[in-house]
Amino acid sequence: MTRIVRSLAELRDLTRDWRAAGATIGVVPTMGALHDGHLSLVRAAQAECDRVIVTLFVNPRQFNNAEDFAKYPRTEDADAAILSPLGADVLFVPDAAEVYPPGHATTISVSGVSEPLEGAHRPGHFDGVATVVALLFNMTQADRAYFGEKDWQQLQVVRRMVADLHLPIQIVPCPAIRAADGLALSSRNQRLSPDARARAALLPAVLLDTAARIEAGGTISPTLAGATVKLVEAGLSPVEYLELRDAESLGEAQPGRPARLLVAAWLDGVRLIDNVAVTLP
Ligand code: PAJ
Repeated sequence: MTRIVRSLAELRDLTRDWRAAGATIGVVPTMGALHDGHLSLVRAAQAECDRVIVTLFVNPRQFNNAEDFAKYPRTEDADAAILSPLGADVLFVPDAAEVYPPGHATTISVSGVSEPLEGAHRPGHFDGVATVVALLFNMTQADRAYFGEKDWQQLQVVRRMVADLHLPIQIVPCPAIRAADGLALSSRNQRLSPDARARAALLPAVLLDTAARIEAGGTISPTLAGATVKLVEAGLSPVEYLELRDAESLGEAQPGRPARLLVAAWLDGVRLIDNVAVTLP
């Protein structure tokens, strides 16, 4: 049985006992609407930690658009039902006043890695993410935290923050889980019409094709421009960015270092993001 905990005081009582007994704690931060991508993180945490806490908090501070926050799916009962058979120990569902008590005035802002791509298109987003993730780490007292490579830039922002703040927690990256046609699972996919959902698989297909062309020595700018045209012609428009970046700093891609191809594009009024690894020739 997964225990649902809403108050920090109750969570602290549990984690104090666990730590006193020498148990290691894993945390999987989520905003709910759980799917197989989230569950893969929970399974990874269970394989490596004695106790697992899944957090469910739709963090208002990371939405730069009020409508997106309002529309975000809230399915706590279904989430608890999906989680229970896996045997996660706790589903922590704090309300906003528990996470940000009145007078809360601290923001964590990670410069550099937060700035391009998502950071440029969603002002304030990563300040909200970094702040809530740091709070959730402190609230859960976890030894390890599990993040999906689906949100590649978020993962790098969190890693930078943990290193910079000397937080005593290990960040464990987990591969993106995809549908059979290649589309990365996302709670936002539910908002696609059946027709748009069928066309959405072009996004990962174009990413993989573009990565292969670059790995085969294709010139980067024209290859990216050609891929952008292909996406737009298929109705994935606008393409907010399609860029090749250094995999860790998200700065300019460097020969001999791991690179990442990252995209954000709109389809049917839904914003989709994805990324793949690229080995530069
Ligand atoms: P959310 O979008 O709910 O995602 C929670 C975690 O699940 C993130 O680490 C995300 O990368 C991972 N995830 C989502 N889809 C995935 C997929 N298809 N395969 C593998 N992992 C996947 O990301 C957030 O919430 C929030 O920003 C949060 C970190 C919880 C802070 O509020």
